Amino acid sequence: MGRPIGIDLGTTYSAVSMLGEDGTPTILPNREGGRITPSVVYFQDDGSVLVGEMAKRSAAVNPLDTVEWVKRHMGNPDWRFEAPNGVVHTPESVSALILKRLKEDAELYLGDGAVRDVVITVPAYFDDAKRRATKDAGRIAGLNVLRVLNEPTAAALAFGAEKERDGTFLVFDLGGGTFDVTVMNIRNGVLDVMGTDGLHELGGKDWDDRVMIWLNREFQAAGGPDLMATFEDEAMLRDRSETAKRTLSQALTTKVPLSAGGVTRTLSLTRDTFEEITSDLLNQARDMTISLVEELGLGWSHVDQILLVGGSTRMPAVPRMLEVVAGRKPQVAGNPDEVVSLGAALQAGLEAPGRDDTPPLVVKDVTSQGLGVIALDADTGQERNFTIIPRNTKIPAKRSEGFSTVVDGQTEINIRVTQGDDDDPTYVKLIGTQTIEIPPYPKGAPIGVEYAYDIDQIVFISVYDYSAQTLITSFEVTNDANLSADDIDDAHDDNRNTEVN
Ligand SMILES: Nc1ncnc2c1ncn2[C@@H]1O[C@H](COP(=O)(O)OP(=O)(O)OP(=O)(O)O)[C@@H](O)[C@H]1O
Ligand SMILES: [Mg+2]
Repeated sequence: MGRPIGIDLGTTYSAVSMLGEDGTPTILPNREGGRITPSVVYFQDDGSVLVGEMAKRSAAVNPLDTVEWVKRHMGNPDWRFEAPNGVVHTPESVSALILKRLKEDAELYLGDGAVRDVVITVPAYFDDAKRRATKDAGRIAGLNVLRVLNEPTAAALAFGAEKERDGTFLVFDLGGGTFDVTVMNIRNGVLDVMGTDGLHELGGKDWDDRVMIWLNREFQAAGGPDLMATFEDEAMLRDRSETAKRTLSQALTTKVPLSAGGVTRTLSLTRDTFEEITSDLLNQARDMTISLVEELGLGWSHVDQILLVGGSTRMPAVPRMLEVVAGRKPQVAGNPDEVVSLGAALQAGLEAPGRDDTPPLVVKDVTSQGLGVIALDADTGQERNFTIIPRNTKIPAKRSEGFSTVVDGQTEINIRVTQGDDDDPTYVKLIGTQTIEIPPYPKGAPIGVEYAYDIDQIVFISVYDYSAQTLITSFEVTNDANLSADDIDDAHDDNRNTEVN
């Protein structure tokens, strides 16, 4: 049985690491010798699939048979992809194909038996449904997922374990598809996450999109056809746009050759223009970073180091913005595309069955999403979202809230589980509902709702009948119970049948 490995399952690129005999993690190269593998799957007509570099190249030629950025769809019950052979895929099954490929490449490289136990990283801001989907993807790929670990925590683990440095760190992780900002404290061997925030739809891809729009407009102004009109042209434009963006991290200007409909033009894009057309994207990340530091009651003088993680932090505008905000230069935490996977390998080493020596760092992470329940507020007579576990609570976490029945002889209560921190039900996300039978009591019978977050931030719910002192039921918010937009509207109109004590 092979040793456990760490996998950074990224939106655009994935990386695999393992602890060496000396306890330091190293990257396991893929079968092509690459240290990172594009998270791209190309479905061929005969039912076979290509994953990685070859699939990424095929995206430009066969965009309709290729899936990219599947991580953005994790936890979305409505997303489906039909392969050319008619097989319908879910985000989990496509992610599983990527994981399977990473597993096989690791086995090929190690040559010493099957890889089974893994730690997979997820953005800190991933919610319950996305975390479950990630674990399911691992299971479908034949892996035993020891943990899902937050990406910024993994990065800090790799950085902290290496440097044995105490202090307060801000991890600024801007990858291909997601943005995460996390503040943590490392002291006496304990990595204490203080708070986290993020946007799961902000990443390098959005910068690429802006370049695409700009280039397409210029190309048309120069007499060319609309490059977004065909999938093939659009895929070519995307490829050129990402290359242009990367070039502008090194150079002040780049020349982009474009050709379609018999028109060939070479366009010039400067770094200034690039930064101008993407400034609002960077501002979103900046504002969220500033608010998190404020929310934690910290000043920038309390933050000892700013760590840059994720390939998109190579854009010069990122460290420049952070230096303006924090008054100090941020630091590059190793190789920004590899550090998360190295941290996952460290955690995998800690989680490995049979391990009993003291780990170099103990991790205390926090919840990234508040959890609540919708009920009637006795004071106002209005429906309100009652937060039961606020975000940034240490995990594992368990909290309960008391409610009471609203009519005599009530035999059912409807638990509406929400995610978010707002009191107003319209500003939180309904992540599950469950109707529960109770014995008939006079109005006002006390009911307890207990929420628990496990170490992977997966949610478990228990409902108690306080009159009988019994547990009525326990349930999980499963992916199947994940609601589409229609269900959410229905559920908001449901009977208001619980009230606060
Ligand atoms: N030199 C560079 N300049 C600008 N952007 C870059 C550079 N190198 C890589 N990137 C961008 O970084 C992104 C990939 O980063 P990374 O591998 O950290 O993301 P990921 O792990 O796939 O995504 P996520 O963490 O969001 O799931 C891509 O959008 C890529 O274009
Ligand atoms: Mg990443």
